[in-house]
Amino acid sequence: MTNEKKLRSRDWFAGSDKMGFVHRSWLRNQGYPDDYFSGRPVIGICNTWSELTPCNGHLREFAEMVRRGILEAGGVPFEFPVMSLGETIMRPTTMLFRNLASMDVEESIRANPLDGVVLLNGCDKTTPSTIMGACSVDLPTIVVPGGPMLTGRFRGGTIGSGSFNWMIKEKQTNEGWSASDLQEAEVCAARSAGHCNTMGTASTMATMAEALGLTLPGFSSIPAVDSRKKMMAQLSGRRIVEMVKEDLKLSRILTRKAFENAIIVNAAVGGSTNLLIHMIAIANRIGVEVKLEDFDALGSKIPLLVNLMPSGKYLMEDFFYAGGLPVVLKELEGLLHKDVVTANGKSLTDNSADAKCYNRDVIATLDKPFQTEAGIAVLKGNLCENGAVIKPSAATPRLMKHRGRAVVFESMEDYHKRIDLPDLDIDENCVIVLKSVGPKGYPGMPEVGNVDLPVKLIKKGVKDMVRISDGRMSGTAYGTVVLHISPESAIGGTLALVHDGDMIELDVANRRLHLDVSDDELKRRRAAWKPPKPSAQRGYVRIFLDHVQQADQGADLDILAGKSGSEVKGDLH
Ligand code: FES
Repeated sequence: MTNEKKLRSRDWFAGSDKMGFVHRSWLRNQGYPDDYFSGRPVIGICNTWSELTPCNGHLREFAEMVRRGILEAGGVPFEFPVMSLGETIMRPTTMLFRNLASMDVEESIRANPLDGVVLLNGCDKTTPSTIMGACSVDLPTIVVPGGPMLTGRFRGGTIGSGSFNWMIKEKQTNEGWSASDLQEAEVCAARSAGHCNTMGTASTMATMAEALGLTLPGFSSIPAVDSRKKMMAQLSGRRIVEMVKEDLKLSRILTRKAFENAIIVNAAVGGSTNLLIHMIAIANRIGVEVKLEDFDALGSKIPLLVNLMPSGKYLMEDFFYAGGLPVVLKELEGLLHKDVVTANGKSLTDNSADAKCYNRDVIATLDKPFQTEAGIAVLKGNLCENGAVIKPSAATPRLMKHRGRAVVFESMEDYHKRIDLPDLDIDENCVIVLKSVGPKGYPGMPEVGNVDLPVKLIKKGVKDMVRISDGRMSGTAYGTVVLHISPESAIGGTLALVHDGDMIELDVANRRLHLDVSDDELKRRRAAWKPPKPSAQRGYVRIFLDHVQQADQGADLDILAGKSGSEVKGDLH
């Protein structure tokens, strides 16, 4: 039975005065009957559908499934659009707009007569942006992950959407690929509706949402076009109505223990380095302390249990057929907190108690993992006083301890101009240093950290080199790539002071990234360093530049940390 006193929607709809009339009357133009306003829980379907976000292009249809479930459970659905972020399309980078989209979600939820929310997301940034925004309001909320594309098939083999991108330069250089080869691959790589089908950032974010307890169990790994995905969307619609009645708010689900569980799960699935930034931002919104160091302390010793690109060879469709995330959760049972609650009211481990694995080549046991240590390593040193990260499972083992000569690019533009010059003084032992791609520097911290190697080295058969930057890397990418260096170069971090020819030491086992230059020399260089001019004088980008925090703090705007709750003062008249 609905507890009417608890429903915030009653503040809009219950009145028999002028404002009650106004709130109901205009909505009635859509044909809603009286009982829509009589105390049934009102549920917002927060949709990131957009034709410009191809990975979320099917979410209009999903909204109908959710709507069906809400109505079946006695709720009243209202779908609303929010800013969508198409990873492959938006310039300069979707990360510049993650915080803006989260503001849209937050204010759209708070300003409207909603008792609960369903978040429909898929492509990389649409998951963290919607969760961040919802956290700052803290209503009962459930996530409907859009799901991955089906496995792409190309010339007798598989092709991973996302991961294939990083092979293109080599194929063109060493295998003589023509424009028509690429055109053929382009359709095969994006075979169906859904997001990237590797364990890239989108799959990592969906996995994170399930591991945090924000989805129904087993939801995240189902392919976008599988009929069970629609069924789960419908069941999520039913469940959110119950969650409202139980007042199962985000803050009850997103406890410190839930975040610890998600860190462990992310390590076991070889998830994207982007998780760190997004999860820290989400934790800051809901009011739980999660630090960069937690990811290393909790996750770096966790074995790799899934054989998925970019760390392995299979794709998300194979993962689903092998049993999906519930199998991983069951394997990790002894390492996960049991006293957490998830969207269906049960614990993570209870939900996966009956999970069965159908393919051990895709999901390993804890005793016989694909790698013994898979999580993300957090580095410290004079090059990254506040931290940097590397994903060992996607790196080359022999480069994990390396000393090399720096070849410095001051910006992406500088990199593009010079990387393939025949006389560039570079060999496979050098360290490629890329500056000005951090949160303020680019601005927006794009996924460029895994820059392509020079053509002349690719021709020699070089597959990997140490690359370091203050940027991010696509979750679909791989290589010995040090990312998220903080403080970034644009605010005068030591990265800004690296010169061509300096020696750099990477020692992942000892979590060290060191610039072998004396303190005196660094002091001299620092005194001569001049900050770059702000790249925008007005608009959202100016707000972003004035307020964005560093990567180790989640790259959220400082003014958005925390939550304002769901109360609204004042009315429209
Ligand atoms: Fe959307 Fe990869 S581009 S998930």
